[in-house]
Amino acid sequence: MAQEFFSVKTALIAHDLAAFEGIAAEFAGTLRAGDVVALVGELGSGKTAFVRAVVRALLGDDVATSPTFTFRHRYAGPPPIEHLDLYRIGDPAEAVELGLEEAFESNAIVLVEWPERLPMLLPAIAARVTIHGSGAAPRRLEIEGPCRD
Ligand SMILES: Nc1ncnc2c1ncn2[C@@H]1O[C@H](COP(=O)(O)OP(=O)(O)OP(=O)(O)O)[C@@H](O)[C@H]1O
Ligand SMILES: [Mg+2]
Repeated sequence: MAQEFFSVKTALIAHDLAAFEGIAAEFAGTLRAGDVVALVGELGSGKTAFVRAVVRALLGDDVATSPTFTFRHRYAGPPPIEHLDLYRIGDPAEAVELGLEEAFESNAIVLVEWPERLPMLLPAIAARVTIHGSGAAPRRLEIEGPCRD
């Protein structure tokens, strides 16, 4: 697994999507250019919803995104934000073929769904967000990250 060093762990409950998005927006404010964030949680837990809320909080509603593949979205900054979804990536060779490593090369904030599929692809992880729950159930979020106060 990539190097991890977390000094803070917070657990929060979101009873609805609005609360969930509020937590994501607040988390977004702690991120710095170059941070890699691992998003862990079952199918439908809210990883993509979390990324969208982070993007909205940092870059607004009408930010340009390109190129649009299902496994990689890049949002123009500043700071640029990369959203990777490794769910369908079979092996490291495929990741290289798709150029996914490029996502880590521009000092963008990189948010990664299904990081456990390809741990060797990821450089040092600045934060990990674990989401428990799916469907209409409340979500429990565990946020692990560096202490920067
Ligand atoms: N309290 C809640 N918090 C977050 N999402 C919620 C909540 N209640 C309902 N939802 C819904 O759950 C869904 C989460 O879907 P999302 O695509 O973000 O999951 P995902 O973790 O990215 O799944 P996948 O692993 O398939 O990519 C959204 O449709 C969202 O509206
Ligand atoms: Mg998703």
